[in-house]
Amino acid sequence: MQFDLSEDHKLVRDAARDFAEREIAPHAAELDKNARWPSQIVARMAELGYLGMAVPEQYGGAGLDNLAYALVMEEVSRACASSGVIMSVNNSLFCDPLYKFGNDWQKREILTPTASGKMLGAFGLTEPSSGSDAQTMKTVAERDGDGFILNGSKNFITCGPEAEHIIVFAITSREGGKAKHTALIVRRGQPGFLVSPHDEKMGIKAAHSCTIYFENVRVGPEHLLGKVGDGFKIAMATLDGGRIGIACQALGIARAAFEKAVAYSKERQAFGAPIANLQAIQFMIADMATELDAARLLTHRAAWLKDKGVRHSAESAMAKLYAAEMSTRVAHKALQVHGGYGYVTEYGMDRHYRDARITEIYEGTSEIQRIVIAKSALG
Ligand code: CAA
Repeated sequence: MQFDLSEDHKLVRDAARDFAEREIAPHAAELDKNARWPSQIVARMAELGYLGMAVPEQYGGAGLDNLAYALVMEEVSRACASSGVIMSVNNSLFCDPLYKFGNDWQKREILTPTASGKMLGAFGLTEPSSGSDAQTMKTVAERDGDGFILNGSKNFITCGPEAEHIIVFAITSREGGKAKHTALIVRRGQPGFLVSPHDEKMGIKAAHSCTIYFENVRVGPEHLLGKVGDGFKIAMATLDGGRIGIACQALGIARAAFEKAVAYSKERQAFGAPIANLQAIQFMIADMATELDAARLLTHRAAWLKDKGVRHSAESAMAKLYAAEMSTRVAHKALQVHGGYGYVTEYGMDRHYRDARITEIYEGTSEIQRIVIAKSALG
């Protein structure tokens, strides 16, 4: 059993912390206020190799592992949760399935520029009438010679307005009444590819999401990801990795809120002493510290399993479930420690409180994580 990070992992984490504190954190409040896409931060993350961290260097990535990815994700998200999810989507929801299921041409032509951050990728599973029950999607891809014609729509697509490619899951047959899904890599800008204005959200405002419509979009055979009919399994396997990224995002948000609460509790005087002397505050600090550590241990275990190449569906779901709910609880308590100052926007506690909430929803709600965990526990 090894709880220490290696020297290499510590270096990666410390460099990410330094970068995030110097180049991301000073902009986070403004990005949130104006719901402004953080183009400079994305460009810097690309330079640093953060957009394809676990992808081999041969394909434009940083050639590191998923634990390194988890460490950097936490640091980036601690500074700005919007930047965190942009990083997570590109790494886990786009580059990872391209690396795992893509052919040589896709790895060379699409993965390489995306892992190096020259372009971004997105993931299109959710539809207006199917979120948690993902198999009931309506988007269809009909055979057209050796390719497909795609019709339908995908919504809440994080990075959708900016991404060059989106992995779209579509129904390709309904043999015996059972829908078969297929994954296609669809390039923006072709006829019939329509992008809505970005969503107005309560949190992670700088990470734009949108709805994308496909009206008779022609997808060539070279853009088929994996095999016809394997799409749902590709989506689920991809989310096993994605959920680690969101657990890290939740950790980063919670840590930012917690650290502010600790600092504030030492400064703020009440009843003749800093409020940190009060047991009511100490109990909150103790609960937050414990929950943060528990979430990090679950998350690092899931990343470690992914690095070992072992199936980690339940462990990722546990990490995401616990870290997301922990993040909401910690943001709530940290705001409470600040009293009235937590409620005014000057201290930025509202941003952590709003940002934390999405982690319980996207890449599978907490209820879906419980389903995945229960399935595994019950066999
Ligand atoms: N890896 C590989 N295969 C898997 C798998 C996994 N993790 N999970 C399931 N499968 C396989 C199953 O073995 C099964 O295969 P067979 O048909 O051969 O038996 C098949 O997939 C279907 O599995 P289920 O019967 O379990 O499927 P289900 O319809 O009951 O759904 C679910 C399961 C867990 C509820 C799933 O629908 C789910 O995860 N829903 C949530 C969707 C989600 O997370 N959406 C997030 C969108 S992305 C997003 O939010 C991005 C963003 O913007 C940041």
